[in-house]
Amino acid sequence: MNRSDFPDSFVWGSATAAYQIEGAVAEDGSGPSIWDTFSRVPGAIANGHTGDLAVDHYHRVDEDVALMADLGLEAYRFSIAWPRIQPEGVGPGNRAGLGFYRDLAEKLLERGIAPWATLYHWDLPQALEDRGGWLNRDTAFRFADYAALVAEELGDVIPNWITLNEPWCSAFLGYASGVHAPGRRVGAESAHAAHHLLLGHGLAVPAIRGAAPAARVGITLNLYSIRAASDGEADRDAARRVDGLGNRLFLDPVLRGSYPEDVIDDLGQREWFATETAATDLEAISAPIDFLGINYYSRHTVRAGSPDEPAISYPGSEFVEFVDTGAARTQMGWEIHPDGLIDVLEMAHTMAPELPLYITENGSAYEDVVGEAGGIDDAERADYLRDHLLACRTAIERGLPLAGYFVWSLMDNFEWAWGYTRRFGIVFVDYATQKRTPKASGRWFSRFLRGNG
Ligand code: FCB
Repeated sequence: MNRSDFPDSFVWGSATAAYQIEGAVAEDGSGPSIWDTFSRVPGAIANGHTGDLAVDHYHRVDEDVALMADLGLEAYRFSIAWPRIQPEGVGPGNRAGLGFYRDLAEKLLERGIAPWATLYHWDLPQALEDRGGWLNRDTAFRFADYAALVAEELGDVIPNWITLNEPWCSAFLGYASGVHAPGRRVGAESAHAAHHLLLGHGLAVPAIRGAAPAARVGITLNLYSIRAASDGEADRDAARRVDGLGNRLFLDPVLRGSYPEDVIDDLGQREWFATETAATDLEAISAPIDFLGINYYSRHTVRAGSPDEPAISYPGSEFVEFVDTGAARTQMGWEIHPDGLIDVLEMAHTMAPELPLYITENGSAYEDVVGEAGGIDDAERADYLRDHLLACRTAIERGLPLAGYFVWSLMDNFEWAWGYTRRFGIVFVDYATQKRTPKASGRWFSRFLRGNG
């Protein structure tokens, strides 16, 4: 496989997120986010880790942009911390916060690296959570205001905009299982959070375009390849439920302007959605976008579980079990299935045949070992990367409109509930010294990008 197998216009990058890398959570007027609060809840995060320092990217922008340039990356997907811009979630923009991202974007452009900004990668201002967070419809409007403000200020240096990262996680890990901030467990009402997130996206799209007419705007969804463990009716129904909650609940409203009725029924939320999803909401949510971002990591094989014993805490899918197929897994326990990447591209392409698709995240966690000479020979991560790039190539050969790929992640970072105990970087970070060292996977990707992989 060679880089020349891909179209010349193909976008090659890496991705990160603000809370996972920046640190400096209380600096320069930044306000608290739900992750600042949640990471202080005893037992919420492995080892009590927090993002207070993370990998200190806030103070190491020069070094980190130089690192990307050395690796030969041509695009960088980062996220903007809402509480740095609006410490209370409302009101005028904080100059220092806006200045930080302007400086980052300018430095990227100087190096020929295209900025891709995600406006919301899970760090809601705590002040908005105190008013109900994503369960409160008003948060959608606050998000659109924030999006307009940032696009107005930074539209000249940021060409590509992603409204939300993985609203499934915000809604269901945040408000159903409670393993992510804000750590609430409201059952099927977490679907209201999903709707308000989607509404926020839909309102933000025209708001961004209004402020920055040249902006390309999209959303990033985490999609999974789902299959039933058997042809039996109960197992097929389990697959329908998981695909419904994980994929269709987000794809359908964004791409088709409707909710999948079976999922609304699984959730027992028909009444609420009948009132709240007035035609105008769905109209907003299905605002035309310029691209769809897809984060792809794994496949799920599912079967019907015992009807008496809930196996998982996702609403409408409580009695579904995930099956261990025996396939190799990463340190996260996520099955490695590169062809699933093609499945999710096909899923989106079928719904929106004209829409360009980007893999905005794909990557793997492994236990890295620093060798005697200081190198990190992460052969498994390099294999994972290569095998998923091969799947990307196959997807393009099959005519799927895949236009770019971002590896997760540029460097090791705060992996949410796992704290610093899971490393996804193609660059190793020594957390004691903050020294960055490209791993073998990063050096391989770099050679690949330079045309001699
Ligand atoms: C995704 C998140 C990203 C990172 C990877 C491993 O769900 O968007 O921040 O944690 O998983």
